[in-house]
Amino acid sequence: MDYSAKLEPLEQLAIPCAVLGVYQKRKLTPSAQRLDERFDGLLSRLLKRDDFEGKPGEVFSIPHLPGEGIERVILVGLGRKEELKPGTYRKALTAAAKALKECNAKQAASLLHEAELEGRDTGWNIRQFVELLEAAFYRFTQLKSDDENHKPRLTKLVFPVDDETALAAAKKAIDQGRAIAYGMNLTKDLANLPGNVCTPTYLAEQAEKLGKRHKHKLRVKVLEEKELEELGMAAFLSVSKGSAQPAKLIVMEYGGAPSKTPPYVLIGKGLTFDAGGISIKSAANMDEMKFDMSGGASVIGTLAAVAELDLPLNVVGLIPASENLPSGTANKPGDIVKSMAGITIEILNTDAEGRLLLCDALAYAKRYEPAAVIDVATLTGACIVALGRHPSGLWSNDEALAQAVVQAGEESFDRVWRMPLWDEYQESLKSNFADVANIGGPDGGSITAAAFLSRFAKEFPWAHLDIAGTAWTTGKDKGATGRPVPLLVQYLLDRVP
Ligand code: BES
Ligand code: MN
Ligand code: ZN
Repeated sequence: MDYSAKLEPLEQLAIPCAVLGVYQKRKLTPSAQRLDERFDGLLSRLLKRDDFEGKPGEVFSIPHLPGEGIERVILVGLGRKEELKPGTYRKALTAAAKALKECNAKQAASLLHEAELEGRDTGWNIRQFVELLEAAFYRFTQLKSDDENHKPRLTKLVFPVDDETALAAAKKAIDQGRAIAYGMNLTKDLANLPGNVCTPTYLAEQAEKLGKRHKHKLRVKVLEEKELEELGMAAFLSVSKGSAQPAKLIVMEYGGAPSKTPPYVLIGKGLTFDAGGISIKSAANMDEMKFDMSGGASVIGTLAAVAELDLPLNVVGLIPASENLPSGTANKPGDIVKSMAGITIEILNTDAEGRLLLCDALAYAKRYEPAAVIDVATLTGACIVALGRHPSGLWSNDEALAQAVVQAGEESFDRVWRMPLWDEYQESLKSNFADVANIGGPDGGSITAAAFLSRFAKEFPWAHLDIAGTAWTTGKDKGATGRPVPLLVQYLLDRVP
């Protein structure tokens, strides 16, 4: 899609389709009012005849308008003006995107950014629309022989603005929204691919491809099993002992700042399929464990967005990638492995494999002397029990980092909720035979998982995001969401000096 901002009075706007907001009780927004005047009150007359009220997400299409300038109008409900919140606004934008997808126009102008939201501005409003429109237009058709899902015709979207300040803000918002959507789409494509296509090797190749695309600043290398063994990553390597697919550690180094500047390190769990291993999962919905590499995919997507935006930061992406399957060579409950950090781990449950990958990646991160480390993982079903599927879970050993991540979540509306990381939780990880067990008891499973990781993150400010509930949607619209790319990109944008 081609997005642009334009200094143009509405009275002169000539476009096949215009999208305008209406508040509840059919109160026209200022631009809808201006257009209504241009059409001699036609919009308000038509509105009176319909049962459209302007509730959030309601859509009223006027497919034919008299004259030349504007051929059709899509009116979108914004709800009560004084109650307009980011969540309702996004609902309206999603409805608008759906209407645009179906409207058959090649070009459209949207004025929905004039909505007033507390603490948000025109730029924020526009960026949200770019992101949500790209999400609505996203299709995953790589593996379908015929594409029943018809391609929308819309190829150009204009945001008309009134003054130079708004124009500059709109342009910046479009660039950011586009880069975030590019990162999200890449993340979705990788995560939606099945385990037989998206193997650790495939994931590594895709990261390398991205490195070639941005070769001026992004260096990608892939560490093979032999090198991982030499590094002492026995915890990571134990996970894929039952798999025919070799494990890979994907290392992505983006250099946008002088080389001495400490980097932000992002670690993404890249389990391309999680059957649970010998502690095998039950059959229901096991297909969804192809999404267990969503954390890794989101780190790749975030680096893609960072490279696209040319951010003046150093960012490292580490993606330990492997597959967790049962077999005669698989690791077994009770096995003890020595992690790269030297800590021995008793694997009481082979399905708690994410932390075995992440602990070695955290140990590897130390060599970068990072400004901060954020790991992203579909780590526990327990996180979904605790928080549902709206926020990602956040744990951190550093107040400032935790605040920055919460703040980035609110700003991008890719939200997180902070969870405790108290010493008391460490007790449940006690092992009779090794330094630590890889599972706690039945209580607080997402918290004991974070407590386990914290033992490997003592030397830097660290945050852990459990994205089990947010990385994909289940049911009829099953598919990857591209989260938490908006959150991570926002966190990095906020770090730009
Ligand atoms: N990848 C899963 C977590 C998961 C499960 C995410 C379902 C999203 C939906 C992880 O590897 C896992 O299996 N965790 C176990 C941990 C348990 C054995 C302590 C879990 O959540 O059951
Ligand atoms: Mn598992
Ligand atoms: Zn897993």
